[in-house]
Amino acid sequence: MKYSAENIENIIYRYLPEEEGYPVSCIRAMNYAYKAGGKRLRPMMMRMCYDMYADEADGVIERFMAAIEMIHTYSLIHDDLPALDNDDLRRGRPTVHKAFGEDMAILAGDGLLNYAFETAAGAFAIRPGDVSVENAFAVLAAKPGIYGMIGGQTLDVEKTGESLSSDELVYIYENKTAALIEAAMMIGAYLGGAAAEDIERIQKIAVCVGMAFQVQDDILDIEGEQEVLGKPVCSDEKNDKYTYATIYGLDKAKEYVETKSMEAYELIKALDAKHDEAKQALMELTVKLIHRNR
Ligand code: IPE
Ligand code: IPE
Ligand code: MG
Ligand code: MG
Ligand code: MG
Repeated sequence: MKYSAENIENIIYRYLPEEEGYPVSCIRAMNYAYKAGGKRLRPMMMRMCYDMYADEADGVIERFMAAIEMIHTYSLIHDDLPALDNDDLRRGRPTVHKAFGEDMAILAGDGLLNYAFETAAGAFAIRPGDVSVENAFAVLAAKPGIYGMIGGQTLDVEKTGESLSSDELVYIYENKTAALIEAAMMIGAYLGGAAAEDIERIQKIAVCVGMAFQVQDDILDIEGEQEVLGKPVCSDEKNDKYTYATIYGLDKAKEYVETKSMEAYELIKALDAKHDEAKQALMELTVKLIHRNR
């Protein structure tokens, strides 16, 4: 399977730093978190969006695939820290602060964020003067930032213990989760050579996928199994977090996941992609995520 997590890993692991030199403790912690079993959805969706428009792959898309997973992994390490969600298990292993200490967890998160940009910056030398690489790089910088993931995490943290207005809930979910999925899909489309109007459509699709993804994450926090999820259940309850599922109930939450995912499905179907196989794969993945159990 071209888009299996294993095949994605075979690509993105090649860009990890060597475990050597004085910063070796930090690098070990970075690689420990990165190589634990994640679903690799962001680089997977990035590659699908790329393949919808591009005829072949090069080191440019590979570098951005590795980079988005580095940024996602950093976000998980910091999200799990005692000052945030204080969770002990991630991707089936003790969290980085449990295994390496809080100091190394903070540094490993920072290290992954910076290494993502070092890795992606290598793309400029592969396609000198290519505006699509500049656009992709700008998205990689902006979406994880204060007007994206960090913005969402900020309100998420501040609203601990309080119910959320629907505006606040949408803001948190669109930013803490959908922003990185938007980045992944938009970067794939930019690098693949999609037209501006297709990139706009893909951004809308990514918001639907991202919103559904976070609501399903909330459902799994209530109904999932720790052994399958690879992370603790009832983390939201422990932290006194209000989520879509706790505010509106599980039935409404499941309905929402289905509706948003099918909205994305129809929007993908309507895309004028050059390569149908990648488009089909993205449609199938969108449907598969409705009933994911991890
Ligand atoms: C978890 O993301 C954090 C959320 C945004 C909900 P994933 O569910 O994609 O985590 P991994 O990468 O598979 O571990
Ligand atoms: C976190 O949302 C999203 C991130 C930016 C990491 P959660 O706190 O619900 O993610 P999990 O459940 O710990 O993976
Ligand atoms: Mg959190
Ligand atoms: Mg968390
Ligand atoms: Mg969660």
